[in-house]
Amino acid sequence: MASRAPPFEPSRPARAIFLAMASKAHLELDGKGLDLPVAVGSEGEVGIDISKLRAQTGAITLDPSLANTGACESAITFIDGERGILRYRGYDIADLAEHASFPEVCFLLIQGRLPTRAEREDWRSRLTRHSLVHEDMKKFFEGFPPSAHPMAILSAMVASLSAYYPEQETPEEIDLNIVRLLAKAKTIAAFSYKKSIGQPFIYPRNDHTYLENFVRMMFAVPAEPYQVEPVVRSALNKLLILHADHEQNCSTTTVRTVGSGGANLFASISAGICALWGPLHGGANQAVIEMLEQIRTDGANYKKYVDLTKAKDASFKLMGFGHRVYKNFDPRAQILKRAADEVLAKLGVNDPLLEIAKQLEEVALADDYFVERKLYPNVDFYSGILYRAMGIPTNMFTVMFALGRLPGWIAHWLEQRNTPGARITRPRQIYTGDTARPWVPLDER
Ligand code: CMC
Repeated sequence: MASRAPPFEPSRPARAIFLAMASKAHLELDGKGLDLPVAVGSEGEVGIDISKLRAQTGAITLDPSLANTGACESAITFIDGERGILRYRGYDIADLAEHASFPEVCFLLIQGRLPTRAEREDWRSRLTRHSLVHEDMKKFFEGFPPSAHPMAILSAMVASLSAYYPEQETPEEIDLNIVRLLAKAKTIAAFSYKKSIGQPFIYPRNDHTYLENFVRMMFAVPAEPYQVEPVVRSALNKLLILHADHEQNCSTTTVRTVGSGGANLFASISAGICALWGPLHGGANQAVIEMLEQIRTDGANYKKYVDLTKAKDASFKLMGFGHRVYKNFDPRAQILKRAADEVLAKLGVNDPLLEIAKQLEEVALADDYFVERKLYPNVDFYSGILYRAMGIPTNMFTVMFALGRLPGWIAHWLEQRNTPGARITRPRQIYTGDTARPWVPLDER
C-alpha cells in the first residue's frame, strides 16, 4: 500500500526576521518622526514594515503597480533578478528542470518538500485517477463556439468545478480538491482543444502518467493506436516545471487576493487564469509567435522592429523581452533556448521562427536601448517555438502556461489561507476625483 502524505497543512510558516531596533527605518512626515521596523528574509531581502503607518500618521504609501511593495511573506519561491536566480523551496530551477518530474515539482511547491519514493507513487497515481471530468461538464463544452479561446473555456471550467465539489473546508477536503484540480485541468485543456477542432474527446487512462495522458488526450484519435514520443514528454515536463511558480506575479497576486476574501480554491485559481491571459503576462507566449511571424513576413528586418520599440510613445514592444524582476537574464529563457535547439533537432522540425528569434535576440541584446534598460528574453520568448514543434496550436500556449503555473497558484492560495492573522487584501488609494458637489436635476444639466 503506497504511503500517503498528510493532507495539505500549512507548510513551514513564512516568517521574516525582524532586525533589532538599531536597523529600524526612520520616516519624517510634517515634522513628526516615526521609527519603522525592518524585516529581513532568509536570503537577506530587506523590507520596511509600514503596516502601522496609517494608524500612526494618517498617511499611506503610493506605489502604483506595486513594484516596491512586498504584499506578503512567502516561503515558496526565491528570485534574485540581479543575479538571474530562481529557486522553488530552495531548489535551483536548473536542477529541477533537469532531474524532476512535473508531478514531483507540484508536490514540492505545495507540500514544501520533495516526496519520498512511496509518496511520489501515491501522488502520481492520484493525479491520474482523478483526471476524469464529470460527464455533465461535457455539455458545457458544447455551449462554446468553436472559435472560443481555450483560456475562456479553461477559466470557466475551473470555476465550475466548485459547483461539483462544494466541500472545501477541512484539510482532507482541500487536499482532495487540490488533487482534483491538478488532475482535471489537463483533461479540460485537452477537451477544449478537441472541441475547437471538432474531434471527439479522448478520455484519460489510469495506466498512463500525467504527461502521457495530456499528450494523448490532445493528439490521439479514436480507434487508432497512439504512442507519446519520449522527446515530447520530456520537453513538456521541462516546460511545465519552468512555469510552475514565480512568486508574486500578476496572476499569483490575483489568486492570493481573491483567496484572501475567503473564496474557494477553484474560484481563486479561475481568477488567476484570467489574470494570466493578458499579453504582458502569460499571453506573451502567443504574442511572441505572432510577432515572429510578422517579422518573417516583413522580410526579417530585425533592426526595424528593435527600433520600433524606441519611438517616443511607442506602443510596440518586443514581446518575450523584459521583466519586472530579472535585470540580468531570465534563467528559464536560457534553459528553453538550449531545449529548443535539442528538441527541434530530435523531432526533425525545421522551424524558421527559431532562427528569427535567435537573430532578433542578438540584435536586441547588442542595442544600447536594451542594454541600458537591462532587457533580456524572458520565459515566453522561446517557449512558443517548443510548443509549435510539438504540434500545440498557438492559441493553446497560454493554457500550457496555466497548466504549469497551477501548483504555484495552489501553493500560494494555501500559504495565504494558512498564514496566522492573515487579513483580506484591501489596498488604499489617493483620491483625485471631484470634491463634493450638489446634485443637479436632469433638466438643468
Ligand atoms: N520591448 C521594448 N522596450 C521595453 C520592453 C520590451 N519588451 N519591456 C520594457 N521596455 C522598456 C519600457 O518601455 C521602459 O522604457 P522607458 O524607461 O524608456 O520608459 C523600460 O523598458 C522599463 O520597462 P517597464 O515597462 O517599466 O517594465 P515593467 O516592469 O513595468 O514591465 C514587462 C515588465 C514584462 C510587462 C515588460 O517588459 C513587457 O511589456 N514585456 C513584453 C511582454 C512580455 O514579454 N511579457 C512576459 C513577461 S515574463 C512572463 C510572466 O511572468 O508573465
